[in-house]
Amino acid sequence: MSHPATEFMPDKVLIAPSILSADFAKLGEEIKRIEAAGADWVHVDVMDGMFVPNLTIGPPIIKAIRKATGLPFDVHLMIEQPDRYLADFKKAGADVLTVHAEACPHLHRTLSEIRNLGCKAGVSLNPSTPVSVIGDVLDNLDLILIMSVNPGFGGQSFISNTIAKLAETKALIGKRPIHIEVDGGITPANAQSVIDAGARVLVAGSAVFGAPDIPKAIAGLRGTNIIKK
Ligand code: DX5
Ligand code: ZN
Repeated sequence: MSHPATEFMPDKVLIAPSILSADFAKLGEEIKRIEAAGADWVHVDVMDGMFVPNLTIGPPIIKAIRKATGLPFDVHLMIEQPDRYLADFKKAGADVLTVHAEACPHLHRTLSEIRNLGCKAGVSLNPSTPVSVIGDVLDNLDLILIMSVNPGFGGQSFISNTIAKLAETKALIGKRPIHIEVDGGITPANAQSVIDAGARVLVAGSAVFGAPDIPKAIAGLRGTNIIKK
């Protein structure tokens, strides 16, 4: 069974701080800090130095930090051939496993495998990838992650045509119970506009861990709490 807090709720905005911007020397404490500050999910950025020009963390670290919290782990795989490691990430404690469409020639098979493992299945799209690439797998996924920066690093600026892309994604999925997540350059200043466009899971790294007051930053990211239908 998957983590209850990963179930789709159309009218709730979830905040998923990215630990990429946390202090890696004390990851467990950093996670407890965001949990106490009201975070809903923990976003874990996995990079392989191939799909993106950076290296981060893998299953052993995820396993270690799993002990720090009961919050869902939203694991964003920015890696080539993710099929090789799906079972390892599940075993380490992932609740949501998101692969990049650009890294998966057999996306239907990959998503089915993620669901078979008992995780929620996510697909991420780079800024240059059209939403249409997931048109044939909408019934096989639980989450669509729209990248609002080119993946690889925290602290980059939001790419503005993401707003139109979120709206297009929302129209494409119709009434299906699919999370729309947005990742990259999200701040309290642009949070409401991504919520208005359809995003319901907001990832934020620097805007959370770089903030002087983390509870206030997380509250600011939830926008005005007005969800337009
Ligand atoms: C980028 C990662 C993001 C990143 C977000 O490749 O996928 O999750 O950590 O960081 P900010 O919020 O600082 O753009
Ligand atoms: Zn991410």
